[in-house]
Amino acid sequence: MHKATVFDCNIIHLPKIYRTAGSITPVQNNIEIPFSIKRIYYLYDIPGGEGRGAHAHKNLEQLVIAASGSFDITIDDGRNKKTVNLNRPYMGLHIKPYIWRDISNFSSGAITFVLASSLYASEDYIRDYDEFLNFRK
Ligand code: TYD
Repeated sequence: MHKATVFDCNIIHLPKIYRTAGSITPVQNNIEIPFSIKRIYYLYDIPGGEGRGAHAHKNLEQLVIAASGSFDITIDDGRNKKTVNLNRPYMGLHIKPYIWRDISNFSSGAITFVLASSLYASEDYIRDYDEFLNFRK
């Protein structure tokens, strides 16, 4: 099976509809993003200096958005790494299966908003980096 590389994980520019009273960004299944959303979750109240992630998924696709504030995501396919700073609520990083991710440098009050293609499944996680590298061989 072909596994995605970090070069297949792109920033998706979502629509931003301007209003003088504020902006709106719509996200629709298979239109603005290339998968159907089964789950939404968000990280918040993240203490300064904390890191999140440190795992990969076998099947899950995600779009990760800085709904508020900013943070860095480093993605890793076992061969290449790419670090992206997310800091706009209308930009998301599309993370494909078998990509290791680390999230760090959260600004104060940051909200990491995640659109996910599957329901939560603990067996979909790869939490050991050496095991991840084995999968990538
Ligand atoms: P985890 O995905 O490891 O968090 P992060 O990668 O952001 O550090 O999840 C942390 C805990 O939350 C873990 O015990 C599983 C639980 N969890 C759910 O129950 N449902 C979910 O949708 C998510 C994302 C996590």
